[in-house]
Amino acid sequence: MNSKSRILVVGGSGYIGKRLVKASLAEGHPTYVLQRPEKGLDIDKLQLLLSFKKQGARLVEASFDDHHSLLDAIRQVDVVVSAISGVHFRSHNLLVQLKLVDAIKEAGNIKRFIPSEFGMDPFRMQNSLEPGRVTFDEKMVVRKAIEDAAIPCTYISANCFAGYFAGNLSQMGTLIPPKDKVLVYGDGNTKAIYVDEDDVATYTIKIVDDPRTLNKTVYIRPPENIISQREMISIWEELTGKKLSKTTIYAEEFLASMKGMDYAGQVGVCHFYHIYYEGCLTNFEIGEGEEEASKLYPEFKYTRVHEYLKIYV
Ligand SMILES: NC(=O)c1ccc[n+]([C@@H]2O[C@H](COP(=O)([O-])OP(=O)(O)OC[C@H]3O[C@@H](n4cnc5c(N)ncnc54)[C@H](OP(=O)(O)O)[C@@H]3O)[C@@H](O)[C@H]2O)c1
Repeated sequence: MNSKSRILVVGGSGYIGKRLVKASLAEGHPTYVLQRPEKGLDIDKLQLLLSFKKQGARLVEASFDDHHSLLDAIRQVDVVVSAISGVHFRSHNLLVQLKLVDAIKEAGNIKRFIPSEFGMDPFRMQNSLEPGRVTFDEKMVVRKAIEDAAIPCTYISANCFAGYFAGNLSQMGTLIPPKDKVLVYGDGNTKAIYVDEDDVATYTIKIVDDPRTLNKTVYIRPPENIISQREMISIWEELTGKKLSKTTIYAEEFLASMKGMDYAGQVGVCHFYHIYYEGCLTNFEIGEGEEEASKLYPEFKYTRVHEYLKIYV
């Protein structure tokens, strides 16, 4: 008999969700993926779900508009991992997450819930700038609902997804490395933390059955991936054998660039500001009630930034 928890992934066809499904299957968990009827004619999503089924996952039909279907889905598993999209772009996703918390509370059988966080720790970002703080405020609303309902949980702070922050050498508005010129934030020496999204998923799945992580925040801080923007640019220059022209952008000018941007752009500028000027990912020690993933699982070989960037050469 499989002693590993049965895991339901919600948002399993999304960017991090699909990696969570793969990691759950790879770690040998009976894996369930929520299939929402609302996906309608989205053939790519359907095919992705069917490919999970082929690999051994069970697809469970449920809708956020049908509380009983959610309860039925949750009652089939031990653990729920949510990977619902970032709340700030579609604020009714907050409601969706709260519906999920409600159903988990009522079902009463879930021994671990991982809410959709996977970024900066919202608890530490409570004094952050408008409008970017919406991301953290809404994640804190979900945390409060979880804690009020006394649902066993773990919060995952995954720092910078490499696909969004490393592949582009941390340039906004692009996902590929610049060819000639790169913007450097301030002195470029503030340390940030980069994590391959597949590694985020693997660490998350390791965490769900680990008693050391119950009701704690787990930070994913792979030590060799704690680097400054200048160090990242140097890695890239070494890989390509080409120097980039560097232009410094100071904090005030960077923040002023928000003007005229759409809401998502403004939220992005705020987040970049906190990461690259304030050092919000690295300016604190991990303390009581908190753990660090690479220390918990030292045997796991995480992807180094150098390896990650090779694919872009
Ligand atoms: N640290 C970082 O750098 C970083 C970067 C990006 C995201 N994140 C975080 O990672 C988490 C997941 O983000 P993501 O980019 O992976 O999300 P995503 O791909 O945009 O979406 C994930 C899933 O959310 C579900 N969803 C969207 N709208 C919904 C609705 N109205 N009702 C129900 N379900 C809905 C869909 O699930 P179905 O599969 O059911 O269709 C979708 O596949 C977020 O908390 C985000 O803040 C962190």
